[in-house]
Amino acid sequence: MRARRALLYVPGSDWHKMERAAASAADSVCLDLEDGVAANRKSEARELVVRALNELEFGKSERLVRINRVDSDLAESDLKAVIAERPDGIVLPKVASGDQVRTISARIGFAEQAQKLAKNSIDLLAQIESAIGLVNIKEIAGADERLDALIFGGEDFAGDVGAKRTTEGSEVFYARSSVVAHAAAFGLMAIDMLWIDFKDHAGLKRMAEQGAGLGFSGTQIIHPDQIKPAQLAFTPTAREIETAKRLVDAFEQNSKEGRGAFALDGKMVDMPMLVSARRVLARAELK
Ligand code: COA
Ligand code: MG
Repeated sequence: MRARRALLYVPGSDWHKMERAAASAADSVCLDLEDGVAANRKSEARELVVRALNELEFGKSERLVRINRVDSDLAESDLKAVIAERPDGIVLPKVASGDQVRTISARIGFAEQAQKLAKNSIDLLAQIESAIGLVNIKEIAGADERLDALIFGGEDFAGDVGAKRTTEGSEVFYARSSVVAHAAAFGLMAIDMLWIDFKDHAGLKRMAEQGAGLGFSGTQIIHPDQIKPAQLAFTPTAREIETAKRLVDAFEQNSKEGRGAFALDGKMVDMPMLVSARRVLARAELK
């Protein structure tokens, strides 16, 4: 698994922003053909995104493209155009069913074969951002082995169910938690919602730390200034790593001595804490 702490969207119709995004330190750059692009610039954006994949140097950043929703008349042409440029992954917005995931995955599979790429070398990331997407999330999460991540779209979800967005986010909390649980159950990565107030770094930090605490591996962002705060929130601190290492060592020692539960620093430790500590160490290893 790769690190996707900061997944930066950039409108596919804006060449300057795509240049900036490619040169940025975002773990993932998502060239957007969906809601970041005005309806009257969709085909222009498609051509620009193809050119960006072809010409721009993305450094260590993952190259993702978000195509238009599967049930639109744009998705097929989007996919056909961009897949030839071998992006690292395709982001599917507003996924409503497992069938939609399988349909797109099969199309990508044909392109992989035609280009002699390894099977499932191009990832699929599904956005859960509608009531129907949430209701069908189990079927979506288990739909296809190409699927690598679930992404929670908080703004779209709130709009779809008629919730009023607040900064503290209790109106989307159930959906957000459900995305994490389903991702974990199906071995997928979970990526958290946006913080749209891109000048409010304290707000982003608060939300992202909460997301990391819930089990998300990263968050979506819309502005380069959000890269650092997002990455920081999803990177274990030196202190957290140290604590996790001590716990793992103590667990191994106690197991040898025949104890499954023991006390460390005045608190009980048993198997679930070991699992959490190992997760922290695994996260610290991600590049
Ligand atoms: N990717 C790359 N560069 C970006 C960027 C992004 N998402 N957002 C802003 N920048 C660049 C700007 O081009 C500008 O570059 P410059 O100094 O070289 O001219 C610099 O960062 C500062 O930008 P700023 O003036 O603060 O913001 P803005 O008014 O130009 O743009 C938004 C604000 C919200 C329109 C812009 O951040 C954006 O388009 N975000 C992505 C929106 C999107 O994709 N939405 C759909 C997915 S949710
Ligand atoms: Mg959306």
